[in-house]
Amino acid sequence: MTAYPFVFSLKSATTFYAEGDDLIFPVQGSSQGLRWRSPTQGWRKTLACLAADGADLDGIARILQSQDGSVDWAKLHYLLGRLDAKGLLSRSVPGNGTVLATLLPMTVRFRFALPKLSPDSHYRLSRFVSLRPEQGQWLLETPLSPAKLWLHDGQALPLVACLAQPTSLDTLCRAVPNCKPDKALAVLALLVAAGAAAPCDAVGQLPEDGNIALRQWESVDLLFHSRSRPGRHDGLCGATFRFLGQIDPLPALKPLAADAGLPLPIPDMARIQQQDPPFAAVVENRRSIRDYTGRELDLALLSEFLFRAARVKAQTDADSPSRPYPITQRPYPNGGALYELELYLSVGACTGLTAGLYHYEPLGHRLLPISGLTTDVQQLLDNARLNSGAATQPPVLLTLVARCQRPAWKYQGMAYALMLKNTGVLYHQLYLAATVMGLAPCGLGMGDSDLFAEAARLDYYQETAVGEFMLGGRLSGDLGS
Ligand SMILES: Cc1cc2nc3c(=O)[nH]c(=O)nc-3n(C[C@H](O)[C@H](O)[C@H](O)COP(=O)(O)O)c2cc1C
Repeated sequence: MTAYPFVFSLKSATTFYAEGDDLIFPVQGSSQGLRWRSPTQGWRKTLACLAADGADLDGIARILQSQDGSVDWAKLHYLLGRLDAKGLLSRSVPGNGTVLATLLPMTVRFRFALPKLSPDSHYRLSRFVSLRPEQGQWLLETPLSPAKLWLHDGQALPLVACLAQPTSLDTLCRAVPNCKPDKALAVLALLVAAGAAAPCDAVGQLPEDGNIALRQWESVDLLFHSRSRPGRHDGLCGATFRFLGQIDPLPALKPLAADAGLPLPIPDMARIQQQDPPFAAVVENRRSIRDYTGRELDLALLSEFLFRAARVKAQTDADSPSRPYPITQRPYPNGGALYELELYLSVGACTGLTAGLYHYEPLGHRLLPISGLTTDVQQLLDNARLNSGAATQPPVLLTLVARCQRPAWKYQGMAYALMLKNTGVLYHQLYLAATVMGLAPCGLGMGDSDLFAEAARLDYYQETAVGEFMLGGRLSGDLGS
């Protein structure tokens, strides 16, 4: 099959059990496990060896020869292929007293294809590759493939470093000190099989560079996308509560000084429900408005807007085993009912409210002043103007800030993606509340999270800005209606 000096192993955590004479291998992520019918004594020994230290092809052949009296090479390759087809087999390249690299299938979808390396080609890494230390070793992965490559103690790193540029096999064979050429080529073969490297064309381009869809993905975006949903990796995804018992969950509401701040008038929701236009009319009339000419905003309107869109309607204690953390109820939905998004208001022009930066406290329906109209707050308002192409600054800029530990405490592999989904939900809620009130809404796609953290004196890692929303007043003729 190959001249590569691979050592084969069963992927860690692979289990199998006997059913009569057969061996059954359950396969994670697939209802169809692998049934190995009546394996010979030689194969039973081989599987035990693959589950322990692993063996190369010659080692497997020796076990089969000693136990079964002969080696059927075609059958050997066929049976290894069956393990491969279920993503159960990893391949390592041994070095001098160490392991240079191990290719590990992450899901049953990975198909190992043995690369034919060509001495006439130059090879290069995919721009989607990322490399990072994990558990004291080097981990290389790419969102293009459901396999990952451990570079263990990093002895093979010089070879990977060369591959930033188109590189010949000759050069690669000399890249790792004290490494035999066949070992270096075996590491390259694993990189190619993992989708992390490929032969280039005459101008150093990889096939991915000519793929219109891939060209439009930024590497960090594709990695984030592929890792924040199940399917292409072996990480946990979902409500795992991984910090339960180690770190207390954040309270449902940001702890704030009781009674501080500016209490806002409570709108008469019963009257509002009677008088509001039909939902269909609100949805049909909704649009983004960036022109504030002839519009006015006052504290009563701002208060009603915040109350309709984002107040806390009720609080629930952490009393359910499936939800061992406190939650709130609000007018809009939120993944896990964690309600991690806080609203901050940069106020430039609102009658009855001093210009400056405020935090909306949604339980007491209060505004908590943070600062006046500082240079930072002016900059936030001006950035909003620039990002929207508006002629003037918005009267109010709402910044959506995520208390990141709320979802991260509960969810694994999807917490940040969930925050962004929740941000979109709140945008639409703000759009609808503004539209029904005749105000001028406009979501923004960008904002400077560091600038906001400085302006609001927040820790970027605890509470970070994830969305911006401009709000303008009602047309003067509509006031009081
Ligand atoms: C997530 C999101 C980001 C947006 N970003 C911007 C932006 O940065 N600048 C802007 O002027 N409008 C922005 N908008 C408004 C869109 O341009 C607008 O919704 C779109 O053109 C459709 O027009 P309509 O809202 O009037 O129906 C954004 C809207 C959303 C929902």
